[in-house]
Amino acid sequence: MGNVSFKDRVAIVTGAGGGLGRTYALDIARRGGAVVVNDLGGSVEGPGGSANMADNVVAEIRAAGGRAVASYDSVATRAGAQCIAQTAMDAFGRIDALINNAGNMRYKPFEQWSEEDFAALLAVHLNGTFNVCQAVWGHMKAQGYGRIVSTSSSAGMYGDELYTGYGAAKAGITGLMNVLSHEGKAHGILCNVLMPNAITRMTDNVSAQMDQDEVAQSAAMMAVIKNSFDPGFTTGLAVYLASEACTSSHGIYSSCAGRMAKVFIGAGEGWQGSREIPSTADDIADHFDEITDLSRGAHIPASPRDEFRIVLTKPERAV
Ligand code: NAI
Repeated sequence: MGNVSFKDRVAIVTGAGGGLGRTYALDIARRGGAVVVNDLGGSVEGPGGSANMADNVVAEIRAAGGRAVASYDSVATRAGAQCIAQTAMDAFGRIDALINNAGNMRYKPFEQWSEEDFAALLAVHLNGTFNVCQAVWGHMKAQGYGRIVSTSSSAGMYGDELYTGYGAAKAGITGLMNVLSHEGKAHGILCNVLMPNAITRMTDNVSAQMDQDEVAQSAAMMAVIKNSFDPGFTTGLAVYLASEACTSSHGIYSSCAGRMAKVFIGAGEGWQGSREIPSTADDIADHFDEITDLSRGAHIPASPRDEFRIVLTKPERAV
């Protein structure tokens, strides 16, 4: 089984009643961890709720000899998030790992997004991640140990059409994790971001809205993808990031068709103007090729201070 063990560890996996989250919960339990299987059990869009999804995964874990309890609370409310953390404390007495995986989906042209649509996506993805992180934070801080894995998406990190609320929320999650990775450092709390790719009920919902060209392109891709969009192909990365074996923090990791990779936010070498006289729009126009040129490499600043340090080592140039 390798060295990745969850013996004596307790993990919360939100949205673990199906899709990707179910596979994370099963694998952590198989590796000896006790798991809170949280799932609201609603529709892909968000509304609804049922105990069945979480209960079925708990039954699966227990049938295999593992330890798990169900939680049906919504991550979208602070009260729900507190109940999720309390479920772990009541059942297992500690919280070592949190995988923020719960999510909903709406998919339509920008002008059709209502305020309610936008709020519904932010509520589950971004507020949900904030809520559950805050509910577990004190427990992790007190024990000087924690692993938080939050789920972003290429639709937000790279951008794609029709994903307004989803993309905004998913990119927001990366911002939240960037900050928490700094705050968690002194307390042994490591925070990372996962960008999965898998065929689940969520992506089926998107596929159902594709036009014929997109369906044809997707069918052609499937021949090359083989099985690698099965949720199980992302499980290893998610579970590793949630484990004691992981020493990374402040990372963004993509799982795509069997390829695992670090994703980064960086800045190119750019063009250094004067530090005394502001550059004008004309100066920018004159130097735009240099500003956008990435052929000279890029820096990946760890913080705003780090970016200042990098920039201030560059010689100033007269405008
Ligand atoms: P899924 O729909 O199977 O899983 C999401 C789960 O979250 C569902 O079981 C749902 O009941 C639960 N959930 C929804 N709202 C909830 C709430 N308020 N509280 C608690 N649980 C709630 O979809 P999938 O694909 O497994 O998605 C898992 C995560 O991965 C999501 O955050 C999704 O946005 C993300 N993701 C998925 C990708 C993919 O290719 N499948 C790509 C990028 C990100």
